[in-house]
Amino acid sequence: MRVLVIGSGAREHALVLALSHDPTVTALACAPGNAGTAAVAESYGVDVADPAAIAARATEWDADLVVVGPEVPLVAGAADAVRAAGIACFGPSTEAARIEGSKAFAKEVMAAAGVPTAQSEIVDNPAKLDAALAHFGPTWVVKDDGLAAGKGVLVTSDRAAARTHAMTLLDGGHPVLLESFLDGPEASLFCVVDGTTVVPLVPAQDFKRVGDDDAGPNTGGMGAYAPLPWAPPGMVKDVLAKIIQPVVDELAARGTPFSGLLYAGLALTSDGPQVIEFNCRFGDPETQVVLPLLRTPIAGLLNAAATGTLAAYPPLEWSDGYAVTVVVAAEGYPARARAGDVITGAEAHAVLHAGTRRRDDGAIVSAGGRVLSVVGTGETLTEAREDAYRRVDEVHLAGSHHRTDIAARAAKGEVTAP
Ligand code: AMP
Ligand code: GLY
Repeated sequence: MRVLVIGSGAREHALVLALSHDPTVTALACAPGNAGTAAVAESYGVDVADPAAIAARATEWDADLVVVGPEVPLVAGAADAVRAAGIACFGPSTEAARIEGSKAFAKEVMAAAGVPTAQSEIVDNPAKLDAALAHFGPTWVVKDDGLAAGKGVLVTSDRAAARTHAMTLLDGGHPVLLESFLDGPEASLFCVVDGTTVVPLVPAQDFKRVGDDDAGPNTGGMGAYAPLPWAPPGMVKDVLAKIIQPVVDELAARGTPFSGLLYAGLALTSDGPQVIEFNCRFGDPETQVVLPLLRTPIAGLLNAAATGTLAAYPPLEWSDGYAVTVVVAAEGYPARARAGDVITGAEAHAVLHAGTRRRDDGAIVSAGGRVLSVVGTGETLTEAREDAYRRVDEVHLAGSHHRTDIAARAAKGEVTAP
């Protein structure tokens, strides 16, 4: 099977590495990729926001399966374009990708399917903002209704700050979603879906704030670990029954079945699991910790989803133990990331590349906010943490920063489900 991966982050590096271990994969390419994927897969340029260009690249390269990493091409219709070219695609149609592309659409689907989520209100007119803010609090959750790469959300107990953030979004022409605050530990559950059948992967937790102890602004994600030692037995089964299957069934009943990776961002509250958000693709950085634990070859699994044959697929096999990833970010990230700094110590397979490129002189340099996603594994979460941080210490990038507390509380047994 010839497999083409679309995207250029550490998530795509993790996908390419996992695909390279599948004996059924005879050729592997990544477009546009980065300096890390180029070591494992052929590299091609492509504009990820251009579905026709992606389909043309897949046709030209004679791909049997296209795996789309990021949300932007999916929301734009990349999977439809690839399928229209007669090539199997792992990723939802533009209609089904609205589950991530529009938070208002996701809320409407959840309401129709009876899925638990935060109360919400859309504000598209500044004159209605103050009345809407009065319906929420003492903690306000203010979101951009469209795609914002994880950075459009403000959670604050400061009403003035909530108002300022909402006004900034509205001034930029973006409708605002206000939500009730969901308390409880968060979990990310990835589900492989073929339109009807759902196959869950192990749950993970990511760390969205830039600083230790969840200080500072939201980012695309600064680290993650899997599985969750604190998750109650039966948690995944419960989420499948109450949340995932009803949403998959609702989208199928509407004639817009979801095929690809349905990612539920959950808050495990005292009232049970509630949805914070859905994404229509693998999460970053959670993919970097989930895939190293999966022993089942991944190309067959993704191809089964793409071809509607998941029901006949054998149960997944997992390694015992844990994985932890720590994101090494460029100076200034998330506000303004500095690029062009030389990176050393990033050659190992456990160092996944995100924003990197190879300079003409052969040096690997930073080319994005999140530069590397360093992965550690171990029999215990503590060992996996130590492995990850040992590798982080071997990496050198001037001005870089990373969190020092990824998975620390869970490893100490300080995270508990309600
Ligand atoms: P989102 O982009 O919707 O995933 O939100 C980013 C982050 O903001 C989430 O991972 C949560 O940590 C936080 N968040 C979003 N919505 C809520 C909510 N309703 N209650 C509590 N925290 C939230
Ligand atoms: N880890 C958050 C995301 O991928 O959206």
